[in-house]
Amino acid sequence: MQIKDIVQEKKQQNIQILKEYLESFKNRSRAESNLLTILHKVQELFGYLDKEAIEEVATIIQVPLSHIWGVATFYHYFKLKKPGKHIISVCLGTACYIKGADEIVAKLKEELKTDLGGVSEDGLFSFEEARCLGACSLAPVVMIDDKIYGNLTPQMIPQIIKEYKRKHKE
Ligand code: FES
Repeated sequence: MQIKDIVQEKKQQNIQILKEYLESFKNRSRAESNLLTILHKVQELFGYLDKEAIEEVATIIQVPLSHIWGVATFYHYFKLKKPGKHIISVCLGTACYIKGADEIVAKLKEELKTDLGGVSEDGLFSFEEARCLGACSLAPVVMIDDKIYGNLTPQMIPQIIKEYKRKHKE
């Protein structure tokens, strides 16, 4: 079985779990008042608000899709895009800012071709900001998954990103 098929199979399993979960919310008024709880469940199952899953929610609890997306976009907590395989957190805390975090952000934007809060086109990286990663003496700092990169300069960024891309090609 190919990885693509495994991913699809897992997704269908999660859709099934979601459908069973939604059974108890079929009464419309109750469903609307529990919409946030339901969206949390979708994010827990899929890691973000998967479009197909949200369509299931709309159909089963009979709430318009536009209303659901309206609620989802109001709260920053909800992820509307599938997260990248790696999470890049760039520190924008005071120490990092003073040491040039804005230049690191600019270089990462260029490399990943996405803004803060986005996902790189190849789906490999989520690009997020953080407020002090607890390594101020190494400022400016970026964390990729659970690894800290300190004393960064913009020139170091392409090589770091390239290394992660290379690992995925192996
Ligand atoms: S301010 Fe960036 S690690 Fe503390």
